[in-house]
Amino acid sequence: MTPSDVKATLAFSDGSPSMELPIYKGSIGPDVIDIRKLYAQTGKFTYDPGFLSTASCNSTITYIDGDKGELLYRGYPIEQLAVNCDYLETCYLLLYGELPNADQKASFNDRVMHHTMVNEQMQFFLRGFRRDAHPMAVMTGLVGALSAFYHDSTDINNPEHREIAAIRLIAKMPTLVAMAYKYTIGQPYIYPKNDLSYAGNFMRMMFATPCEDYKPNDVLVRAMDRIFTLHADHEQNASTSTVRLCGSSGTNPFAAIAAGVACLWGPAHGGANEACLNMLADIQNQGGVAKIGEFIKQVKDKNSGVKLMGFGHRVYKNYDPRAKLMRETCHEVLGELGLQNDPMFKLAMELEKIALEDEYFVARKLYPNVDFYSGIVQRAIGIPVPLFTAIFALARTVGWIAQLNEMIGDPEYKIGRPRQLFVGATSRDVKPIGQR
Ligand code: CMC
Repeated sequence: MTPSDVKATLAFSDGSPSMELPIYKGSIGPDVIDIRKLYAQTGKFTYDPGFLSTASCNSTITYIDGDKGELLYRGYPIEQLAVNCDYLETCYLLLYGELPNADQKASFNDRVMHHTMVNEQMQFFLRGFRRDAHPMAVMTGLVGALSAFYHDSTDINNPEHREIAAIRLIAKMPTLVAMAYKYTIGQPYIYPKNDLSYAGNFMRMMFATPCEDYKPNDVLVRAMDRIFTLHADHEQNASTSTVRLCGSSGTNPFAAIAAGVACLWGPAHGGANEACLNMLADIQNQGGVAKIGEFIKQVKDKNSGVKLMGFGHRVYKNYDPRAKLMRETCHEVLGELGLQNDPMFKLAMELEKIALEDEYFVARKLYPNVDFYSGIVQRAIGIPVPLFTAIFALARTVGWIAQLNEMIGDPEYKIGRPRQLFVGATSRDVKPIGQR
């Protein structure tokens, strides 16, 4: 962190002494005011529910300029990574800071692809779930359970343990998601095939059966790989902050990532892709394009509780760059499968057009986010809707790990412990039950 020459002065209207606060500059993005000594010097906390103005850490991994609609992983624009690199190269970049050369790529791929199997005992653990359990409920359990199966990589303070846990998590997430899927439909699990690409192997584990192999289609595999790349990291979002907070207690990496999976499930976060497709299906069932006007009216009515899912973002106040790439992939996949006239896709495009011109959305800078199109792509590939968020979790795992490792490696890191403004009852005496 580079200290700025400028300092902030905090003054109080009641005559209490003012305080000078240091300011730090990042390499890009807003400066931060360092308030770490505020409580010690003034006896006051800051108040920022929802972290609207609070930087919880310094980071070198991902940068978003929400006004420009820019997303950089380690300085590289997402548009270039999505076109020129595959997901495992992106994983390497996020974990180690640089893109791999050919040798580094081959050795990293080899390491990941040789950890794809999970302990055979895990299938018996999986069997304890109901067949109709939501895949994210299952994934939260399975990822948390990894720490019970891989004891030799649970010391978060040991760099070797963190490294092997990282490789295991990245390698095993596709296997676990595919197992969770096969379990719900009552089909046998398909073991990984390590000579396939990361995305191709995942799709085969999803769609092959012991009686019929699955030949990965290049266009669809590329689309899946792009979904993974676009979701790989997104700086200090809710699930990543959850992973950092959870990991800050010194818990093991599998437990911290399981906390991220649980957080991601919510419809305001990773669950939005599932919620978006359900929303499109509802509009479709009620009459499709003709019903968009009525639906938009509901969205604008604050009392309806209806939101246009796949629209809006805490940071992006412009078109989400991932949504542009996903829109492109959507055209490619539907073209490949001969689904250009898919009514759901047409409905999404019409809804997007109308919303982008509507004063309500324009005034609030609400643009499509990545989830608006990713659901349509996944549905076309044959992924069932409840599995969408599990695929997001699979892809985001590398970002969570990179952020967790960055935090643990930071000499200034402390257990995360927010403070509060207490507005409840002050100290009072417990009365005997008969007098209450
Ligand atoms: N539909 C209708 N109105 C919206 C929407 C929406 N999707 N998003 C925000 N607004 C309104 C909101 O009601 C508020 O209006 P007003 O100023 O009149 O009260 C204004 O826009 C600002 O919204 P906010 O709720 O203060 O914004 P936020 O930063 O707290 O929330 C969000 C961001 C993503 C939770 C929200 O936009 C949302 O719920 N979107 C739909 C869910 C979604 O698509 N989530 C995926 C996010 S991208 C994937 C990921 O990274 O997880």
